[in-house]
Formats: sequence, structure tokens, C-alpha cells
Amino acid sequence: MDARQSLPAWQALTQHANMMKTKHMKDLFSQDTERFNKYSVKLPKILFDYSKNLIDQQTITQLVELAKQCQVEQWRERMFAGEHINTTEDRAVLHVALRDRLDNAKELDGVDINQQIAATQQQMAAFCDCVRSGQWRGYSGKAITDVVSIGVGGSNLGPQMVTEALHQYSDGQLKMHYVSNVDGTQIANVLKPLNPETVLFIVSSKTFTTTETMTNAHTAMQWLTTAAQDTSIVAKHFVAVTANKSNAIKFGISQDNIFNMWDWVGGRFSLWSAIGLPIALDLGFDQFKQLLDGAYEVDQHFLTAELEQNIPVLMALMSLWNTTFLGAQSQAILPYDQSLHMLSAYLQQAEMESNGKSVNWQGEKVDYPTVPSIWGELGINGQHAFYQYLHQSNNIVPADFIGSVESVTPVEGHHETLMANFFAQTQALMQGVTEQEVRADLKMRGRSDDYINKVAPHKVHLGNRPTNTLLMKRISPRSIGNLIALYEHKIFVQGIILQICSFDQWGVELGKTLANKIQQELESGQVNPNHDSSTQGLLAHYHAMKSES
Ligand code: F6P
Repeated sequence: MDARQSLPAWQALTQHANMMKTKHMKDLFSQDTERFNKYSVKLPKILFDYSKNLIDQQTITQLVELAKQCQVEQWRERMFAGEHINTTEDRAVLHVALRDRLDNAKELDGVDINQQIAATQQQMAAFCDCVRSGQWRGYSGKAITDVVSIGVGGSNLGPQMVTEALHQYSDGQLKMHYVSNVDGTQIANVLKPLNPETVLFIVSSKTFTTTETMTNAHTAMQWLTTAAQDTSIVAKHFVAVTANKSNAIKFGISQDNIFNMWDWVGGRFSLWSAIGLPIALDLGFDQFKQLLDGAYEVDQHFLTAELEQNIPVLMALMSLWNTTFLGAQSQAILPYDQSLHMLSAYLQQAEMESNGKSVNWQGEKVDYPTVPSIWGELGINGQHAFYQYLHQSNNIVPADFIGSVESVTPVEGHHETLMANFFAQTQALMQGVTEQEVRADLKMRGRSDDYINKVAPHKVHLGNRPTNTLLMKRISPRSIGNLIALYEHKIFVQGIILQICSFDQWGVELGKTLANKIQQELESGQVNPNHDSSTQGLLAHYHAMKSES
């Protein structure tokens, strides 16, 4: 038995889960009219309602007790203090420092990192002003009109998701484009309509070794220098964000055009660093700061609120409860706000790259479910696609519903329709509809007994499907900062309770290594006979098809 499973709170929860599985949320709501007040927490810009989970007061007490027995509070202190809690890589985990007030020195391994952060932020602010005001000129003397951000994973998803989310806050001064895929179709399509004289490329890569990003950066460089017929103009069009300055310089980026990041910022938590440069260029540095302020507000809440009132802690506990104790295998992210159309893609990396692991801190295999798979879509589109499954399949999929009280783009008659669905869906998933109710309704509509017998079982919704609701006043740099930081701390807490090393990502290495070897075979036309027969057969077929006219 794993150390976590032998904790008294874990054992109590295992027993308690068996009892709760016999209950229906609809009954819990009718027995307790205070349920919403008990199980929701408000911050100035965001409300978290977790009352539509299969929980009662004992569940919360025991889950909070588990968090305490796992020393979540002490681990939280250790993270904020800059201890090397990323043990497998021997690094601190300090993305929170990036949005901290930088008033005092903050020592990390003997270095004042607040000074480093402030210097990079000043560099970003000055650069944004220069580009946005048109002072920064391309090789022919024209101002920059388009920014192409090249990066993948954490060096793409955060900046692109936030750029999309805050589109209404951009003055449109610069057009933003993102290239992440090594499939040449993407960069070809992005570059096609652009004028090389007025494009600025940002190459974002913490390691500056990622094959996909380097391939795209080389293509961009070639496109630019071919158009300019001059290789000395690169400094006017290329900047880099990286922790590997020497590689960026080797690539051809001018030293002055490099924005620093540090090994204590994980890729999937890096949008607050200079990796957020595309956001700052699009919105202006002041609004980028508001994003940081939003995250800072949540950091303070996370640090100070009692565990029972601490939103990220409760988010983690609900996920743990639904997954590890009640057996759900996936979790849906369902934003009812067009601005958040990339949120589920962003959270897929944040949650699954962090906690999608199966050994504990000691390297022992755990035999309990860790995190669910994360997937999702804008709510309304999902309703007309996979909500059938959410309501009536045999699998329970807990879901986060995320919406705004006000639209950032009010169009008469739209928002109330959108939000009516938002509220109705969590109600339907919780309540369901019994066969008796279905039959009574059909009878009232004058349907025949034969018809009722045939159709009634198909119309039953069992309900009892857990959801959380996150309701913002409206999308803004600050509220987006709030939202992302809530999920970041949720991930941290869940990792601590599950004893998962949340800040490494060894699972992406094996595929990369094999791809490097196979690329050589694709280029040489050879097939390594030591591959398994499937890979060998596929590669041989690929070569054969390629040589066909
Ligand atoms: O997918 C693996 C990964 O290492 C992510 O963790 C990271 O965000 C991404 O690749 C990009 O890495 P880099 O910023 O070093 O190019």
C-alpha cells in the first residue's frame, strides 16, 4: 500500500466514497437549501460553485483533512520560498515570483531573482513601446505590422490562448500570428499574405533545442533573408525568448534581442515570463501587467485562505474526489465564452503534462487513478456534439463550466441565450429525469401506452453528474490572470496529494528520441530491420508510396 493510501484520511475517504455512491445529488439539494452557500466561494472577479458535486459536509471535512495530512500548506510555503520542489530536475518552481510585487530582493540559490525579473520586464516594456509606436523599423525602414510567434507546447499555448481570450482588449496595432506545428502547411499559410519588410518573428523556446520550433525558425529566417537579399538584417526582424542564450546567439539572434527566462519557470507555467511577450506586444505592457496582477490576487488567496475556503485547493479536492475516489476517468472543460475557445487545449497541457504520471515521489508505481484526461470545447458547440454522452453514457465525466456575466462583445439577444444554456446544463446534469417523470410527461402530451413503453427508457437521464461552475464578471486581463492561476494552483495541490512530480515531463522524451532516429531513415530511404514489424512495414510502405509517380 502506498504511503498516501495508508493515511487515515485516505482510508476514511475510501469508505465514505462507497456510502456517497448510493446517494443522489438531487436529494442532497432538497435536503439542504443552504447547499450553494456552503459550497461556493467568491473572489472579487470570480465565483466558484462546487455544490453540484456528490459531496456532503463529511466529504469536505475528510478531503481537507487529507490535504492537511499530505502537508499541502507546508508544500505551498516551500514552493513560494523557492525550494527545489521539482526534485527530478533539481529546480525551484517559481512562476509565482513572476507576478509578485518586485519590491524586495528575493534570493534564489544566492541570486536576487526579483532584480532579474524586473530587468526583463523593463526590457519587455521598452521593446513593446518601441514596436507598438512604430519606432522599431524593419530592413526597408517600415514599421512592424505583423508579429509571428514561433514556439510549441508551453512556449505557444499560454500566449496564444491569452491573446485569443483578450482579443477585445487589443488595439489591433499589430496583427498576431502563431506557428507551433512542424507541418509546413501552417508556416506556409501564415507567411503567405505577409510582407517580410514589416514582420517581426519571436522565437520562443526555453531550451532553444526543440526540433519543431527550430525547424520553423529556420524556415522563417530563410523566408526573410531571401526576400531581403541580405543576411545582415536579421536583428531587425528576429527576437528570442529563452533560457539558453548561447543557442539563440548561435542560431543568429542578436544578443540585444534576447529576452531571458530561467530554469525555475516550467514551460507550461511560463506565460507570465517573457514567453508572454506576444501578449504584451498585442495588448501593450500595461495590460500585460494587469494579467500578472490577476494572477497575483489568486496567489494571495491561495497563500492565505483557509483550506475550506481556498478555491484552488477545493478545485483540486473535487478533481481528486471524482477521479481517485469515485472513479471518473476524464474531465471536461466547457467554457461558455467564445474568448476562451483555446482554454481546454491550454489546460490539457497544464494538467496532463504535470500530473499525467503513475509513479510517486519515491519512484514507486501507484495503484490509484491519478489525474483524469482533460478535454473540452466551447459549451454551445459541445452541446451539439458530445453532451449526449455527458448526459446519458455509462461513463461519468465531471465538468468545469466557465462563463461570464457580461459579454465582452454584447450583441443583442445573444448573451442570455448562451447563459441560459450554461445554467441549464449543470442543472440537467445534476438533476436528471427519472423514468416516472418521463412517463408522466409523455402521458400528459397524450402519447399512447405503446409509444411510452417504447420510448421512455431512452429518455431517462440518470443525473448525479458532477460539475463545477466558475462564473466571472467579464473577461478581462485581470480575470484571465485569476482563472489561469486558479488552475495552476489546483494542479500543484493535486500533485502534492497524489505524490506526483508535477513539474517534469519525462514522458515526452521517448517519442522524441525515436522520431530523431526515424527521421534519419526517412531522409536516407533506409528502414532499420530491428524495428517491430508494424513500424518496419509502415516505413517500407511510406518509402514505396513516395517513390511512386
Ligand atoms: O512537450 C515537451 C515540452 O518540453 C514542453 O514541456 C514545453 O512546453 C515544450 O516542449 C516546448 O519546449 P521549449 O520551450 O524548450 O521549446
